[in-house]
Amino acid sequence: MAVKPVNLGVLASGRGSNLQAIMDAIAEGRLDARVRVVVSDREEAMALERARSAGIPAFYVNPRAYPNKEEYEQEILRLLQKYEVELVILAGYMRLVGKVLLEAYPNRIMNIHPALLPAFPGTHGQRDAVEYGVRFSGCTVHFVDEGMDTGPIILQAVVPVEQDDTEDTLAARILKEEHRIYPEAIQLFAEGRLEVRGRKVYIKPKGEEKGEE
Ligand code: GRF
Repeated sequence: MAVKPVNLGVLASGRGSNLQAIMDAIAEGRLDARVRVVVSDREEAMALERARSAGIPAFYVNPRAYPNKEEYEQEILRLLQKYEVELVILAGYMRLVGKVLLEAYPNRIMNIHPALLPAFPGTHGQRDAVEYGVRFSGCTVHFVDEGMDTGPIILQAVVPVEQDDTEDTLAARILKEEHRIYPEAIQLFAEGRLEVRGRKVYIKPKGEEKGEE
């Protein structure tokens, strides 16, 4: 059965390689979605460039131009609604999402984190894993709640940590997996197969995706 493409709004602060992986998966027919709009809190974010080269509307919203986080997020929400966004994708968005977006998109905001949550949350997931000395790390796609990297987990991928790894070599190994599982998680959402029950996400088998969560 054909899947109706889900409208995505991507929030990104930097390089945008996950955004690129999502756009590539769509172009290659692996992901039933459309990136309708990209929003960044950084004017120089490469993610904005990538979107524009693909003909996708891309906006810089300067957080400092608003008196508080609520009003800043209201502006982002206005853009998301204008482009009829159904699922918000955080792709290297370096801010904690506040209540304006969380209330507008309950269990409709996804993030990718470069560690196996709940280990190593925060902004230095790869460095923290190397310094701790774990043998395995990886990445996690999860729904976003009010905490920092605390929401219900959708997919994870594991990579080995080698003895001579640096933050950069481990980050590169993890990034490959990020680019693989983020489009996969979004495809599960598009297929209506993700159901959040408490803090767990159940993945419905194919063919049983009827019924809203
Ligand atoms: C990725 O490592 C992601 O896990 C983290 O921020 C980084 C973003 O990279 N949340 P990119 O901008 O998608 O290239």
